[in-house]
Amino acid sequence: MSTKSISYQGRISPLQPALFFAAFAVFLIASTALAQQTNPLASDPRAARAGGVIFRGQCATCHGADAKGISSIEAPDLTLMWTQPGMTENRVFTRIQAGIPGSIMPPHDFPDTEIWMLVSYLRSVAVTGSTGEFTGDSENGGRLFTAHCIECHRAGISGGSLGPNLERITQRRSQAALRSSVREPSSSIGRGYKPIILSTSSTPDVSGIIKGEDAFSIQILDSSQRLRGFAKSELLSSDRDIDSLMPAFLEGQLSDSQLDDILSYLHQQR
Ligand code: HEC
Ligand code: HEC
Repeated sequence: MSTKSISYQGRISPLQPALFFAAFAVFLIASTALAQQTNPLASDPRAARAGGVIFRGQCATCHGADAKGISSIEAPDLTLMWTQPGMTENRVFTRIQAGIPGSIMPPHDFPDTEIWMLVSYLRSVAVTGSTGEFTGDSENGGRLFTAHCIECHRAGISGGSLGPNLERITQRRSQAALRSSVREPSSSIGRGYKPIILSTSSTPDVSGIIKGEDAFSIQILDSSQRLRGFAKSELLSSDRDIDSLMPAFLEGQLSDSQLDDILSYLHQQR
């Protein structure tokens, strides 16, 4: 019996590595196929429509009914994301399914078919080729950015932090939304950039951006970009219903063509 078993093993053992290798190869082929999987519903026009219905029910509260994003909660314009380098349907699928850790973008436990429907919908509202739409003089834009914006914004290595980092902003917001952010900053103020003016007996009228808050204390980045904390018990007054700390740049200060130049500069910083 033991002899038989030994001879049996002796017979199969030369095959074992080969079998293992074959199984591994099948696994490799299967997993590459999976990684490169494209939308199985791509040719079905009903998929985008069905995806639109799911989108309005599940995603529109954050990304807007037209998928163009809601800047006050930093939910990006999803019609622009396809212009990002290396963006694929598969990647969009994964982001919807897994969510984006560290952000409010939640994971979604939907059947694969429904996620592909969402991908089809997002494909159908895609704005592509936005590269060609930036026609300003980016070199001049860089100079204007340094003169007017860099004290509060970064768009690369250096710059202030009172306003958001504008790196890759042209991939997250449409040109129309960016123009309105510059002309009328107070019309939509980003999450994490809510302004406040407060005063205590020793420090009257400090304006800044709320960076943290609990029942007893508040932390702000003041307009000279110093992080400061206050106990709520020491506040004499606080007013949150105020304009953005970003000044509105009207046409007298920054012409439309200068604004084009700045947007072209920002588009090059991605
Ligand atoms: C609670 C708000 C919220 C909901 C609900 C939500 N999202 Fe998001 N989503 C976000 C935010 C915020 C981001 C940006 C995260 C980041 O990059 O920090 C994001 C990012 C994404 C991205 C990545 C975009 C890119 O440029 O890489 C995709 C795709 C996306 N969402 C699709 C969806 C879809 C589809 C749904 C509905 C099934 C959905 N989201 C529901 C808030 C939300
Ligand atoms: C005094 C500081 C300050 C200056 C100067 C400033 N900004 Fe801002 N900016 C902010 C703050 C604070 C916010 C966030 C609050 C808001 O959205 O209004 C902001 C928001 C923005 C946004 C919106 C970003 C988003 O995520 O949607 C854009 C775009 C922008 N600024 C562009 C510019 C440009 C271009 C200039 C120069 C012409 C400029 N800013 C100059 C402080 C500044």
